[in-house]
Amino acid sequence: MYDFERIIDRRNTRSYKWDQNEKLFGNKDILPLWVADMDFESPPAVKEAILRRVEAGVYGYSIASESYKQAIVNWFGRRHDWAIQPEWITDSPGIVTSLSFSVELFTQPGDEVILQSPVYYPFYDVIKMNDRKVAKNPLILRNGRYEMDYAHLESLMQGGAKLLLLCNPHNPGGTVWKREELQQLGELCLRYGVTVISDEIHCDLTLPGHKHIPFASLSEELANITVTTLAATKTFNLPGLQTSFIVSRNPELQGKFERKLKALSLHMSSYFAPEAVEAAYNEGETWLDELRQHIAGNAEYAISYLAEHLPAVKVMRPEATYLLWLDCRALGLDAAGLKNLMYREAEVAFNEGSVFGAEGEGHLRINLACPRSVLTEALLRFSRAAASYAE
Ligand SMILES: Cc1ncc(COP(=O)(O)O)c(C=O)c1O
Repeated sequence: MYDFERIIDRRNTRSYKWDQNEKLFGNKDILPLWVADMDFESPPAVKEAILRRVEAGVYGYSIASESYKQAIVNWFGRRHDWAIQPEWITDSPGIVTSLSFSVELFTQPGDEVILQSPVYYPFYDVIKMNDRKVAKNPLILRNGRYEMDYAHLESLMQGGAKLLLLCNPHNPGGTVWKREELQQLGELCLRYGVTVISDEIHCDLTLPGHKHIPFASLSEELANITVTTLAATKTFNLPGLQTSFIVSRNPELQGKFERKLKALSLHMSSYFAPEAVEAAYNEGETWLDELRQHIAGNAEYAISYLAEHLPAVKVMRPEATYLLWLDCRALGLDAAGLKNLMYREAEVAFNEGSVFGAEGEGHLRINLACPRSVLTEALLRFSRAAASYAE
């Protein structure tokens, strides 16, 4: 049994989440449950693998090993019924880097790129900062779950958009797209010649009763128009190692990507990351399954806590991810008001929803990847401070 209740003091470790309270929120006493990393140690095998590399003492230029790629292939075969070939894998420093390269490589300046909002905020950045236009397909909220608006998607494709950034599972909202939903999306992409970048970083973090379907696993035809962006970093809490990879069976898409990495001299392997990823995929399975139980427990706890203490707030039950999406519109606060409530009155930091797009206004996103005692304290602080707005 792994211990997901142990408090690990992450302050003064250069933590993005724990060491920026003063700078970002002007309050050192904030309890931070925002940026998506976890307050847990990675699986022990990961630490051991990194320690073995540390011991070597010579930190020279490195190459990716066959066993690293094989660990990835085995993992996706075993966990996701997706048969990939080692040759389809290319390393990239990060998923957002891969998304940004894809926008740059597969579209022209001024082109439209489709995203489905609300969505992880760098999706907007990689489109806008590469001088492309956001073609927004707002998700439809139906029975407490997001659904895709296929009619609007088709109109965007008819309007000329040739690239789509898919978030699968979806952040925020934690939606696990169903096979039929992905198939319907795929049919439109094939009909209109749209390339798909499928960001599947949350794929391993499904909650009980839900199964992730890799978009590229649906058919050979769809695999040929897809670049899947993946990483072990979200699954095993390794984001500080800055490592990810893409999978594409289309040599043209993959070739363009590799050329870009070479042009920026990002094609050499990290010294530490491959061993960490390999150990995580080969030896981290039990850890992950226990983590998922812990996250599921935290999600259920938060849902019932809020239903009891702050019923005005509507919670989307996540199907995957360790993120909880709260509809706080009944509190009647705008973005500045919600920030004031969190940072000044409650002394907690969740993500403020408008950064995920206009559809996220009035929402907050809570990071559940923490010990239950931390979550309890954050919910207590928040619901106590929010109560006066809910009346
Ligand atoms: C959907 C999604 N993509 C990408 C990332 C970040 O990936 P990376 O750190 O590899 O750029 C996150 C992190 O929260 C995410 O939620």
